[in-house]
Amino acid sequence: MIDLAVIPVAGRGIDLLPLTKSQPKEMLPVGRKPIVQYVVEELIHCRINRLLLVTSPEKTSVENHFDTNKQLIWHLRRNGKEDLLGELAFERAEAEYFYVRQRRQNGLGHAVLAAQPFVQQQRFVVALGDTILGRNQPSNIVKRMTEIFDRSGNDIKALIAFDEVPAEKVNQFGIAKPKQMQGDTFELEDLIEKPLVDQSPSTLAVAGRYVFSPEIFDFLCRTEPDKSGAVQLTDAIRLMIRSGKKVLGIRLPPGELRYDISNFESYYKAFLDFALHDPEHGNILIDWLTER
Ligand code: G1P
Repeated sequence: MIDLAVIPVAGRGIDLLPLTKSQPKEMLPVGRKPIVQYVVEELIHCRINRLLLVTSPEKTSVENHFDTNKQLIWHLRRNGKEDLLGELAFERAEAEYFYVRQRRQNGLGHAVLAAQPFVQQQRFVVALGDTILGRNQPSNIVKRMTEIFDRSGNDIKALIAFDEVPAEKVNQFGIAKPKQMQGDTFELEDLIEKPLVDQSPSTLAVAGRYVFSPEIFDFLCRTEPDKSGAVQLTDAIRLMIRSGKKVLGIRLPPGELRYDISNFESYYKAFLDFALHDPEHGNILIDWLTER
């Protein structure tokens, strides 16, 4: 049973400067929680309880966030604020946290490779720390993916979640070239990182959740950096497909919300959507916005 996820959170988040100068992108608030807390809660909901976060020197607040803060708990108790303890319930989740530093930021593939000494021969999930799936309740997609992977024996080497995007946005994502569709799963013939809009094989975009066999590390080691010097995870998956390994895609269920927080537009949209659906303040905000 797969119970391990690698969560890359080491990126620089330059499209959100100056917000991300000293604050990790993954710690930016979306509604009441920082982005990465949604990702971790989704994984725990999907029975993944060993979480390896790939961090970088500016990301210590991520580590602090998932530690138990005894002083804060004590402070809340002493000041009659027990009602707020519920907000820290995630600290007590049945999960173990591990951290590895990516010492140079050489792309997503390089970040996943930094997890190899920990992961070794295990099958594992990769969940991007800047993508929230689901809003009112966490997504089940990772659970479905690990079940499919477990059932497949050794047949599948990678399984990737995809989401339909508007044609003009394909150049922001890894895009699938599916072989044949079988319901909501399909085998991949190719995977192209950020294709030109007029050369894209489909509008199915990598949705930030993957399951891998440890063989991915061999392909990551053989992946050449792209023009910008980044080792792309997509390119390693591409090598995998080209050497005859079976790689599957699965579509997110219809209506599943995905928030890929990469720039101000996507960040504002995510924040607004969560704030407007806040159980306590959402309706007040909607009234206020309507009035304005
Ligand atoms: C990364 C992946 C890309 C994927 C995207 C999803 O891109 O390289 O294939 O579609 O995440 O969020 P990035 O957002 O790091 O440019």
